[in-house]
Amino acid sequence: MASLFRPPAASSRHICSSCLLRRSVLRRQIQWHRRAFQTSVSQNPPIPDFGFTFDIDGVLVRSSRPIPAAQKALPLLQKNRIPFILVTNGGGKTEEQRVQYLQDRLGVPLSADMIVQSHTPFADMTHLYDKTVLIVGGDYDHCQLVAQKYGFKYAVTPIDILCAHPEIWPFGKQYLDLYRTFAKPLPTPIDLSSPATSLKFDAIFVYNDSRDWGTDTTIILDLLLSRAGILGTLSTKNGNPALPNNGYQQDAQPPLYYSNPDLWWAAAWHQNRLGQGGFQRALEGVWAAATDGAHLAKTAIGKPTQATFAFAEHRLRHVRKQMFAQRGLNDPLKRVYMIGDNPESDIRGANEYRSPHGTVWRSVLVKTGVYRADEGKEPAYRPDVIVEDVLEAVEWAVEDAKKARGG
Ligand code: G3P
Ligand code: MG
Repeated sequence: MASLFRPPAASSRHICSSCLLRRSVLRRQIQWHRRAFQTSVSQNPPIPDFGFTFDIDGVLVRSSRPIPAAQKALPLLQKNRIPFILVTNGGGKTEEQRVQYLQDRLGVPLSADMIVQSHTPFADMTHLYDKTVLIVGGDYDHCQLVAQKYGFKYAVTPIDILCAHPEIWPFGKQYLDLYRTFAKPLPTPIDLSSPATSLKFDAIFVYNDSRDWGTDTTIILDLLLSRAGILGTLSTKNGNPALPNNGYQQDAQPPLYYSNPDLWWAAAWHQNRLGQGGFQRALEGVWAAATDGAHLAKTAIGKPTQATFAFAEHRLRHVRKQMFAQRGLNDPLKRVYMIGDNPESDIRGANEYRSPHGTVWRSVLVKTGVYRADEGKEPAYRPDVIVEDVLEAVEWAVEDAKKARGG
């Protein structure tokens, strides 16, 4: 179902019939932009009653390369003071680092509060700042540094544990030389002769896609089967049919937090790649085998969860408030356009999100990422519209918002 509203944008240099067509389309679009944003050149244009949440991978960038339409779409919104934030299931960097990374590639000024990464909401879990937490995923120790920047004083990685006790995952020893270049000393030694003072975990966070499924799976499983999170112990309740869930996770084991359910994501390779969701499914396969099919209790955030969309809406309201602070913003945010490439996370999330403020969320699916129009399959979750790219998405949304205002 090609874009119902506008043909694709033109970008090539060589002159051929389709280029000429595209050029005339582009000329028409510029005229359209002038008309669509006509209202915004006057001194105090009305505060837009709508805003945008943009996915990143597959919408603004593909792996590290910018998607050209994004370099047009975002400046257009900034020029017309239409609020937007970026909401990604990606992570593994601080929000400030993500800002720099995107500014360099998209050439638009962004601020850290305009970025919601998969793990950003974990920063609010201040009750765990003084506890020992396991931080899983990401390159080297980057997620550990992100957690420390959020305020988690005792953030430990599976790599730290493996370097201190290589015998815990015998097949990890070939990586030890690399791992020891960034591993940190354990905050407390593992001393099973005195379990009360031995290394104990109070939570397990999967911040980003695992880089070492073997080591990460082993240590997460050890903690989920442990007694009260004391690494190297085994709960005596495990497998007890007289207890709920056959005694699994019934012995003060640390809670497990996932930050991104994406099975697939659009990277540089021409086919979609396994994401954090792939690691989660593998971990749960091992858990099921190790516990004879016991239930695995966990908390999952990231798109499409209501939690992440509520966090994103709250953040967009904050950014909008800041943009129009001088004008004493009390104009309601009536509509939010979620622009995404993944039906399972971006589109489903926007379709199912119920705003406590009554704000209407619309979903726009682009063809520059996970969703492959050329495979002729209908998206698993139906968007309000499918368009070629993020620039067409913005055009469609501005028209839609105008219609909603009766324009
Ligand atoms: O690992 C990131 C990937 O799962 C998707 O990122 O930006 O498309 O939500 P994004
Ligand atoms: Mg995406």
